[in-house]
Amino acid sequence: MSSGRAIAHPNIAIAKYWGKKAISGNIPAVPSLSVTLAGMTTTTDVELDAAAKIDTLVLDGEDARGDALTRAVALVDRVRMRAGSNVRARITSTNDFPTASGLASSASGFAALALAATRAYGLDLDAADVASLARESSASAARSFFSGFAALDTDGVAHQVAPPDQLDLRVLVCVTSEGPKAVGSTSGMIVTAKNSPFHATWLAIAPRIFDDVEAAIRTKDFERLGVAAEASAFAMHGAALAAGVSYFTDATHAVIGEVRALRNEGMLVFVTMDAGPHVKVLVLESDRAKCAERMESVPGVLRVIQTRPGEGAKIVEETAS
Ligand code: DP6
Repeated sequence: MSSGRAIAHPNIAIAKYWGKKAISGNIPAVPSLSVTLAGMTTTTDVELDAAAKIDTLVLDGEDARGDALTRAVALVDRVRMRAGSNVRARITSTNDFPTASGLASSASGFAALALAATRAYGLDLDAADVASLARESSASAARSFFSGFAALDTDGVAHQVAPPDQLDLRVLVCVTSEGPKAVGSTSGMIVTAKNSPFHATWLAIAPRIFDDVEAAIRTKDFERLGVAAEASAFAMHGAALAAGVSYFTDATHAVIGEVRALRNEGMLVFVTMDAGPHVKVLVLESDRAKCAERMESVPGVLRVIQTRPGEGAKIVEETAS
C-alpha cells in the first residue's frame, strides 16, 4: 500500500489573517504575510489501508478524536475525491512543540498532512494546488508551503514573497503555556466578525498594514517590518478583545513589557502574538543572544525557542508497492 511522509514548519504572520470572506473554501477577508520558521517541525505520515473501514489519526502519540480527527479526515476526503479513491488512511503526526496552543501547529499540521496525503494517494500537484487543499482546513497552512516570507491573498492563493535570507530576522518564540488554547482561531474570528465594534476598522486597515510589511521585506527594512508587525498584532487582538475574545495572559503582558524595555535601551526588537498566550519576538541576529537571555528571565516564560526563516513543506520519504 502506498504512503507518504512530509514535514512542515509553522509560520508566524507578520501581517495577520483574521476574518473570513467566505466560509465555503475558507477564504480570508484580508491579505496576510508570514515567515516560515526553521527550528519547529511537524512530521506527518499517511499510509493507505485497503482493509480499514475508517481513517485514524495518532497525534503526538495519542489516538485523536473529536475536532482534530474530523478536520484531518475532511482534508483527506478532499484529497481522496481528487484521486477518485475510497481507500482509508492511517495518519500519524508529531510536533516537536506544543500542539494547538497558538503556536501555529494547525498551519504546519495541515500543510504536512496535505502534502503527505496527496503523495500517498498518488496525486501530482504543484505547491500552490496542495496549498489550496490545506487552506480549506486552515488558511494559515497555505503559507507554510513556501520558504522564507509568504503571502496569502483574499482569493485564497499563497505565494512566496522573499527567500529566507532576505533579512537577518530571528523569531524568538516565548512559550508561556503548554496547554491547548481556550478559543480556537476559527471561532475567535467568527465571534470577532459578529460582535466586535472594531471589525470593520480591522478589515479597512489590514490591507494597508500588509502593503507596509511587504514593502519592508522588499526593501530589507527591519524597523519598518517590526513597527508594522506590532500594528497588525495589536489591531487584530484589539478587534478580538472588543468582542470578548482574549488570548493574552499575565505572561504575555510581561514579555511585551520586557521587549519595550529593551527597545528603550536602544535595541530594535518587536512582538507579535497569535491566537494564544505566547509572544513571538522579532529581532536581528546581532541582538539574538542578548534578547533571548532577557526573555528567558521574564516571569511566566517556560522556554524560548529560537527560530529563523526556514524552508517550505516538503516530502521526506515515499514508498509505494
Ligand atoms: C492569528 O489559519 O488557524 O494565527 O483558517 O480558521 O483555521 P482557520 O484559522 P487559522 O488562523 C490563524 C490566525 C492567526 C493569524 C495568522 O496566522 O495569519
